[in-house]
Amino acid sequence: MAHDSKIAAMNRTGIGMSPVDGEQMVQSAREGIPSMEGSAAGVQTVREQYISERTGIGSMPPPTTLKGVAKAAAALVRDQRPNVFLDRLGERLAFERTGVRLYDALICHISVLTDKTLGPTMNELRTIRDEEHRHFELIRNTIETMGADPTVLTPAADAVSVEARGLLQILTDPRSSRSQCLHAILVAELSDNDGWKMLIDLARSLGHDDLVGRFEQAARAEENHLAKVRGWLTAQVNADTKEGRVGVEA
Ligand SMILES: [Fe+2]
Ligand SMILES: [Fe+2]
Repeated sequence: MAHDSKIAAMNRTGIGMSPVDGEQMVQSAREGIPSMEGSAAGVQTVREQYISERTGIGSMPPPTTLKGVAKAAAALVRDQRPNVFLDRLGERLAFERTGVRLYDALICHISVLTDKTLGPTMNELRTIRDEEHRHFELIRNTIETMGADPTVLTPAADAVSVEARGLLQILTDPRSSRSQCLHAILVAELSDNDGWKMLIDLARSLGHDDLVGRFEQAARAEENHLAKVRGWLTAQVNADTKEGRVGVEA
């Protein structure tokens, strides 16, 4: 993209932009002989082989403190599957931390493109950002209370961190429009909402009744985030539609 212009480059991705070249391209593809042997079935065979030999994404570490060993042993006696719970706590920890960064990026974006009629306001965004941070602290304290190490990247934490990378990419890309940023935040909040619900169910089923109330409070805050983000995105899409706008705002 040209940096000295606010006009995006002409979109030439569609084949219809050059009918003559397009036709030749289709013909060449039909006539072309693959330079390698094999087919999509071969790709699937290789994938199947890798899947059958997989060792998984990461692993859970053993407890590194005496308290951790004692707590894990006590949890096992109570059939509480400590590693299953710690893996999911690690997942929420990673996603809430990313949530803070996503909102930091959105705050930066919206501060340049403020629209008082559509929202969100800076205050609303800062409030949600701080709640994401409080949720991170809640999970960190929970992990520490269990005698585990909150700096561990658990397998589920690793997976959601990869999932969230695309969202961070959109929110930190200066070219993104308000609606594109808000859509990325919507995806994060949808995942957040289901993530907390799953954690509450897990806490209940594993007998961590002391945590359920605190997690439910966090889940209620997440429901509020989701409702607000949906409202902002809807208002933005309606405004874009009214003005016939695609992509960035003037
Ligand atoms: Fe969150
Ligand atoms: Fe949230």
